[in-house]
Amino acid sequence: MGKRAKITIVGAGNVGATTAHWVASQELGDVVLVDILEGIPQGKALDLMEGMPVVGCDCVLTGSNDYAPTAESDIVVITAGLARQPGMSRDDLMAANTKIVKSVAEEVARYSPNTIVIVVSNPLDVMTYVTMKVTGFPPQHVMGMAGILDTARFRAFIGMELGVSIEDIQAMVLGGHGDSMVPLISCTSVGGIPVTQLIHSNRLAEIVQRTRDGGIEIVNYYKTGSAYYSPGAAVAQMVEAIVRDKKRVVPAAAYCQGEYGLEDVYVGAPIVLGAGGVEKIIKLELSDEELAALRKSADHVKANIAKLEL
Ligand code: APR
Repeated sequence: MGKRAKITIVGAGNVGATTAHWVASQELGDVVLVDILEGIPQGKALDLMEGMPVVGCDCVLTGSNDYAPTAESDIVVITAGLARQPGMSRDDLMAANTKIVKSVAEEVARYSPNTIVIVVSNPLDVMTYVTMKVTGFPPQHVMGMAGILDTARFRAFIGMELGVSIEDIQAMVLGGHGDSMVPLISCTSVGGIPVTQLIHSNRLAEIVQRTRDGGIEIVNYYKTGSAYYSPGAAVAQMVEAIVRDKKRVVPAAAYCQGEYGLEDVYVGAPIVLGAGGVEKIIKLELSDEELAALRKSADHVKANIAKLEL
């Protein structure tokens, strides 16, 4: 008899709680929410648990201010940290979130030494690197969630443009989760039809730019924080791929050791995601222009990594 997966979510704020909501409503496993705020993880876990009879999902949700209930988690999602305010870039969060993510990673390694970690805190690629270094986990077990969100935004905008089902839109976004991300037009299709046959290149360039600015567009609406519904949904898809060993082909921040000519850096790339975590980094044939854009994006992440004091 198989047991339910145990999924810990650190940070019970907007992204953490929304992730718990998506994860529980897809019955992916039991959820432990952890936060430093007293009462918040306990209250949100109980509130969600009381919704389970309505949606008919058997998930146990627990909230805690310490890590004891997280012991031997199958998956840990790290959403702890500050979110952006208008006028801020993701990089502006680096100093504060490095301290937070480092302390969280230490606890994760202590209580769940064999877990798979999905990092969401920003700046994403750098915080994922911090988590791998501090936990000492193998790189296949530490990844960052950005690519599914960035491609989802791209797919949503293409769907709005064409008025067709988002289910039929496939896309791939590479690179760091920031202004230098690289949406790949060559890997974007609608019902198998290359997107360039359906949307004019000038208009497509505008949609690509809106995708790059997708995060700040939401920050400018909210004024007091950043996106959480779509990030939560994207994390839940990654959790599902691991729990159900689906071997999904999705973009995620993965540790490059020579792939695309990149060394010792986390950057968004297509991966095979299953029970083993990052089971493979897929190497795409890129045009010179795409490769140059990916390297530039990785250089930006590397420059930030170089500033870290771990
Ligand atoms: N341990 C656990 N939780 C912490 C810690 C810590 N050391 N430090 C802060 N937190 C918690 C806060 O108490 C808060 O509840 O992290 C939560 C963050 O929630 P929000 O402020 O709502 O931020 P959110 O929108 O969820 O974004 C979290 O994800 O997408 C990224 O850029 C975003 O870095 C940000 C992170």
